[in-house]
Amino acid sequence: MTADIIDGKAFAATVRARVAEHVSRLASLDITPGLAVVLVGEDPASQVYVRNKGKQTVEVGMASFEHKLDVNTSEADLLALIERLNADPAVHGILCQLPVPDHIDADKVLAAIDPAKDVDGFHISNVGLLATGQKAMVPCTPLGCLMMLRERHGSLSGMNAVVVGRSNIVGKPMAQLLLRDSATVTIAHSRTRDIEALCRTADILIAAVGRPQMITGDWIKPGATVIDVGINRVPNGEKTRLVGDVDFASAVEVAGAITPVPGGVGPMTIACLLANTVTACCRANG
Ligand code: GUN
Repeated sequence: MTADIIDGKAFAATVRARVAEHVSRLASLDITPGLAVVLVGEDPASQVYVRNKGKQTVEVGMASFEHKLDVNTSEADLLALIERLNADPAVHGILCQLPVPDHIDADKVLAAIDPAKDVDGFHISNVGLLATGQKAMVPCTPLGCLMMLRERHGSLSGMNAVVVGRSNIVGKPMAQLLLRDSATVTIAHSRTRDIEALCRTADILIAAVGRPQMITGDWIKPGATVIDVGINRVPNGEKTRLVGDVDFASAVEVAGAITPVPGGVGPMTIACLLANTVTACCRANG
């Protein structure tokens, strides 16, 4: 039996439609949610992400403010821009695309963003709010994963979840969200012993390591739900292709449900960013 394919692209379209409805209701109150995206440098993958974010922001009726800065922009200039965006009432969400160039301290930049406008959920105060079960801005990629899991399972209570990867952007907040939904959560990483056996205990397996096709079918418990966060570009003859952290061909034979790459988690991330921006806008306007 092969796994059900979780269609993140279709799900994201329904989330965007809901966001667009909210935006049109706000328009009748003369309010337009605005998202500012800051990109420093010319990393090709980041440029694609930023372009897609801007395009989809406009498509749902929100205002998009793109700030593309030269790779040599100083940390001070970037912080000054963040301060201006913090003070701008037309901007409800601010996202600084990561990674930033080495001469800029990413932690300093994230700390400078007004937590109320921190639609990435990376500011330390949002991280703390999430960890203590309070109302927080939740990071977009884990939020998108959670929505797909809830859609598939309803309640996650008591399920064994293994999150492979311990990044601040995905692994840690993903674990917090699963815990908040009463799953039993383990975070696995490069030093985890017998990681294959641990993964085989998972009813829910989240792959967020950034290693192409690392997780193969024999790591997966039959019937498990597998969420593949990886977006890795690998050679494919003369060209390249995108693959996840999961070896889809072998995993699909064992899992109960699986997200494809592309078309799984990726579209949900941007949809959640738009949703977070509307949330920030609503909070700002009482
Ligand atoms: N780089 C890769 N993923 C993300 C993300 O979700 N937010 C930001 N700001 N940068 C990223």
